[in-house]
Amino acid sequence: MRAMVAVQYLCSFARWLGALIFSVCCVLSSGLSYGKTVDNAWIGMENVVSRQGDTALLRCYLSDDLSKGAWLNRSSIIFAGNDKWSVDPRVSIVSGTGSKHEYSLQIQKVDVSDDGQYTCSVQSDQNPQSNHIHLSVKVPPKIYDISPNITVNEGSDITLSCMATGKPEPTIFWRHVTPLAKKFDAGEYLTITGVTRDQAGDYECSAQNDISYPDTRTVRVTVDFPPTIHEVKFTGAGPGRSALLRCEAAAVPSPAFEWYKGKKRLASGHGIEIKTLSSRSILSMSNMTEDRYDNYTCVAVNKLGSANSSVPLIPPNTAPYGSTGSAQILSSCRYLVLALSSLISGY
Ligand SMILES: *[C@@H]1O[C@H](CO)[C@@H](O)[C@H](O)[C@H]1NC(C)=O
Ligand SMILES: *[C@@H]1O[C@H](CO)[C@@H](O)[C@H](O)[C@H]1NC(C)=O
Ligand SMILES: *[C@@H]1O[C@H](CO)[C@@H](O)[C@H](O)[C@H]1NC(C)=O
Ligand SMILES: *[C@@H]1O[C@H](CO)[C@@H](O)[C@H](O)[C@H]1NC(C)=O
Ligand SMILES: *[C@@H]1O[C@H](CO)[C@@H](O)[C@H](O)[C@H]1NC(C)=O
Repeated sequence: MRAMVAVQYLCSFARWLGALIFSVCCVLSSGLSYGKTVDNAWIGMENVVSRQGDTALLRCYLSDDLSKGAWLNRSSIIFAGNDKWSVDPRVSIVSGTGSKHEYSLQIQKVDVSDDGQYTCSVQSDQNPQSNHIHLSVKVPPKIYDISPNITVNEGSDITLSCMATGKPEPTIFWRHVTPLAKKFDAGEYLTITGVTRDQAGDYECSAQNDISYPDTRTVRVTVDFPPTIHEVKFTGAGPGRSALLRCEAAAVPSPAFEWYKGKKRLASGHGIEIKTLSSRSILSMSNMTEDRYDNYTCVAVNKLGSANSSVPLIPPNTAPYGSTGSAQILSSCRYLVLALSSLISGY
């Protein structure tokens, strides 16, 4: 007797599942054959949006203690009642937390492959009732490829690229990382024709969609150019005192400096010291003697070229003025100006 009831129960359960699968298949196949119908059918369908890696909860409620539920992923059964048919360890039924009849499906660590239609089928009074839920899994933007740092000569054309994945497809923005923060048209490729030295620096690629924070990466663009000398400046006093010659150049890569007294190349030693700090070179002489007053030339060289600039060093007492008195006043003024300028420039 008991066995018969059990068999009857199993048969009705099997019939129900059969009807369930049939109804879902019909819904899907009819949906597939009429493109327009799909759109209409989806309007009434519940939509659940979840971010990749999160836990998704698809809600469903049974009508009473006697009704049974089942969950389907497209047309395959995940749960029939409390029996788990799926081997996927991420899926489970959430029941009785919110409501006594809750029969919700929880999917942990959702991925893009879980995207699609889920059906909660509820059997009560022999009438299967199906709730369709569409799960859409969204993915934060992620940059997977970006141009390497590059070094080019001034005037060259460059193209930077930045590729990203995400769902929805992210939009790519480029920005020159400067106080002006120039922005460019959105797109994976950034092309600059005839690059100038002002356009050197960091370019930030930002991949954005509405799911989470943008993903950003940076490319460094180095623009090489030959040296130009901004100034050669003399700071110093009369014989027996020390003197400084400072040469300022602009060049990328940083230049090498050479100093000449007339036609003679100078080196450190014998009261002369040459110090170079990236784009600046300082020639210092500890004790000015008559023979050191001459024409000095600073030469800056890098792989793209060279530049030079000359400055004559004139002893203060040979200033071309008539009376010694006014010359002395003028030269003492000059010392004051020199002292002030050395204070200002820090040398
Ligand atoms: C749903 O079905 C798809 C395709 O068969 C599968 O890749 C995915 O893992 C399934 N997801 C769940 C939560 O069962
Ligand atoms: C690009 O240059 C920056 C700054 O010098 C550096 O931090 C970064 O690692 C470089 N990137 C690559 C891909 O070499
Ligand atoms: C500077 O040179 C002169 C002449 O060679 C010498 O008489 C004087 O002692 C030197 N002064 C110093 C501070 O070295
Ligand atoms: C200094 O030297 C440079 C290079 O040798 C030369 O072009 C310039 O005319 C000289 N200046 C003076 C004032 O002698
Ligand atoms: C200085 O530059 C001129 C051209 O601008 C060049 O003719 C001369 O040879 C250079 N002098 C040195 C010492 O490099």
